[in-house]
Amino acid sequence: MAQTSAKLKVGLMLPYTGTYASLGNAIENGFRLYLAEKGGKLSGREIEFIKVDDESDPSKATDNVNKLIKRDNVDVLVGTVHSGVAMAMAKVAKDTGTILIVPNAGADVVTGAMCAPNIFRSSFTNWQPGYAMGEVVAKKGHKKVVTITWKYAAGDESVNGFKESFEKAGGKVVKELTLPFPNVEFQALLTEIAATKPDAVYTFFSGGGAVKFVKDYAAAGLKKSIPLYGPGFLTDGTLEAQGAAAEGLLTTLHYADSLGTARDNAFRLAYAKTYKLQPDVFAVQGYDAAQMLGIGLAAVKGDISKRAGFVSAIEKAKIDSPRGAFTLSKSHNPVQDIYLRQVVGNENRFVSVISKALADPARGCKM
Ligand code: BEZ
Repeated sequence: MAQTSAKLKVGLMLPYTGTYASLGNAIENGFRLYLAEKGGKLSGREIEFIKVDDESDPSKATDNVNKLIKRDNVDVLVGTVHSGVAMAMAKVAKDTGTILIVPNAGADVVTGAMCAPNIFRSSFTNWQPGYAMGEVVAKKGHKKVVTITWKYAAGDESVNGFKESFEKAGGKVVKELTLPFPNVEFQALLTEIAATKPDAVYTFFSGGGAVKFVKDYAAAGLKKSIPLYGPGFLTDGTLEAQGAAAEGLLTTLHYADSLGTARDNAFRLAYAKTYKLQPDVFAVQGYDAAQMLGIGLAAVKGDISKRAGFVSAIEKAKIDSPRGAFTLSKSHNPVQDIYLRQVVGNENRFVSVISKALADPARGCKM
């Protein structure tokens, strides 16, 4: 019988160093903001954080997550950003039955073939914004596209999502360029893009790598001649560093800086006051991970050992997110609106809802 007055141990496994460090920090900020709004407790339980810097390194992931479960005895795992690390976390969570809430990593398989009653995601699948963007690029009349990304699950799956809808609409991906994560030596690949002369480029990069890619793309003179598109990770949390190189870029994502709803305005104000920073999609996903934990705990009065009640409360919930309310699919992934956004100054400005209540196909999930 769990002690419902004891602190609830949350294992926060996120990148705090490397190209995704700013994403990890934003997720933690968002999580802590929700907790602070609830007076520092969820269903009467104080939260004790046990933090691990996962360095976005899949080779260290299994050890890291095992330590959190076996040495630190965490009640809940929250993590992470990188799809490769998240797949290792999901495997251990599935094997041990530990509750896992994924606040970013989009690895399709986490809510696909690896889906499990104890695994939830507050973010997206890599397929979702990619698929939405394929339709946008096709509607713009582009026929021939080159893709460029890091060679790992997030890049591959983002490109696959894009390709699925773009080619269904009559377009053709003529070249798929990749480089190993987290390399940022883009020059040779940019030269290859220039030589190929596609109608447009689709790209997945995020964090520090996205800053460098967008700047290098513009500096190579490609921005004027070959329009660049991508999921919104390309320009979220990066605009100050990207400057004029990002101006005008169109991206697709489940969040935008100018939604203008009362819910989002309140969130943005509270976040800016607390951290002296503007929130981004990663902060929203961290905030919503905390909300989901709060919803589950409320249903079992803080006793997380009452697993069935905890799980079914989150499954049934409508999560009141700053992005817009969302529900979870059967495989525990957000069913959510995907927005088209355009960079205007330091803002990813809302343009339109491009896919209403888009659900990931959850291929291979049996639950
Ligand atoms: C991923 O690895 O799944 C990922 C990383 C950064 C932004 C979006 C997705």
